[in-house]
Amino acid sequence: MQNEPENLMEKIQSLAKRRGFVYQGSEIYGGLAGTWDYGPLGVALKNNIKESWRKKFVSSKSDMYEIDAAILMNSKVWEASGHVNTFTDPLVECTKCKRRFREDQLKEAGKCDECGASVGAPRNFNMMFSTKIGAMEDSASTVYLRPETAQGIFVNFKNIVDSFHPKLPFGIAQIGKAFRNEITPRDFVFRVREFEQMEIEYFVKPDDWQKYFEYYKDEMLEWMEDLGIDMSKVHELEVEPDDLAHYSKRTVDFEFDFPFGKKELYGLAYRTNFDLTNHALEFQDEEGAEKMTPHVIEPSFGVDRSVLALLASAYDESDPERPFLKFKPAIAPVVCAVSPLLKNKPELVEKAKFVYGMLKAEFGRVMWDDNGNIGKRYRRQDEIGTPWCIVIDFDTLGEENPAHKDTVTIRDRDTGNQERVAIHDLISKIKEQL
Ligand code: GAP
Repeated sequence: MQNEPENLMEKIQSLAKRRGFVYQGSEIYGGLAGTWDYGPLGVALKNNIKESWRKKFVSSKSDMYEIDAAILMNSKVWEASGHVNTFTDPLVECTKCKRRFREDQLKEAGKCDECGASVGAPRNFNMMFSTKIGAMEDSASTVYLRPETAQGIFVNFKNIVDSFHPKLPFGIAQIGKAFRNEITPRDFVFRVREFEQMEIEYFVKPDDWQKYFEYYKDEMLEWMEDLGIDMSKVHELEVEPDDLAHYSKRTVDFEFDFPFGKKELYGLAYRTNFDLTNHALEFQDEEGAEKMTPHVIEPSFGVDRSVLALLASAYDESDPERPFLKFKPAIAPVVCAVSPLLKNKPELVEKAKFVYGMLKAEFGRVMWDDNGNIGKRYRRQDEIGTPWCIVIDFDTLGEENPAHKDTVTIRDRDTGNQERVAIHDLISKIKEQL
């Protein structure tokens, strides 16, 4: 069944809340716009996304160094990076109801989204959150919450060079929170004020930038596909020169057909030597060689947008009676659920607890589920995208057919097919498919 787009978004958001993926931030106090809290399944999904990213872009590479820099950074960093002067969005105010909007996101140009009156002239609104550090409340104590993780990488460039002596090209990677005072946060976790980024700054010789730009473009596409993002909904957009960020000479945005429209999912930028030059950082590749300033290729990914793109890619309601999330097993929050057929039969429960303990020790992401009848348990697990449900029944005890002793049924989420598998083969069978 085809969805109306808004309808699909509502369904995804309601599932995410009901089943413990994502809750509204500060909900019991009426919420806080642009903030969301992740529940246990959302945390598991985010962790799987980040681990998959780490595997692809950090641990499988011999030229990548991962760091974890502080969120609060000296305000001089943001002066040098250009963010204090240029990290702005055009803010307009309605002449009648005084509501404020981002000019380029108005539904109708020049008109208030709320009351339809005209809006005033745009002014630049800086999106960085500032706070005060220490006991003195003077201008010197102002610090910013980083609006991108990238600058945490640039300011550690010299540390990495001094500790590890890499040769060009090499990269520094970081996963962490970023903060932006978005004028109009909207579309669930798509545009928020507190979010997580996974970024790489890849340092290259100036003449090599095109080669590594293409390399990382392919790597990004390959990772998206591995993760389970619906690639028929991914589009590359060559950003027009007038729309480039202040540090970029070339940017390709990877856009995704979200239920609310085609919007940026990730970005790949050629930042030239803009940042290292502004921070007065240099590099000497070979002993005796002249110092130079490397150029930078920057693949940048949002974790929260990854979550949303995955939910939208995986949501399957081809059978309206049984909507389910078709996550790839490797990123599904729960690998498998274990149930005794009946919860009031101690011998079934005992055996099921044994199987649960065995799988939990191996895979971690394993759920115990003995609520309601088996059909209901299957629906519940399908809805959160659990690839396999394992049931311990009377056959497992060898009561009905001795040949089935110590076997369980394993049910496949996508086909609904059930298979009998020996308990001692369960781990290898699941591992094979992860
Ligand atoms: N260091 C480069 C940089 O920050 P960006 O295009 O502004 O570039 C990179 O952000 C990625 O961070 C985006 O592609 C998106 O995935 C994510 N992102 C940016 N702003 C966001 C927001 N307000 N809410 C959620 N994710 C956001």
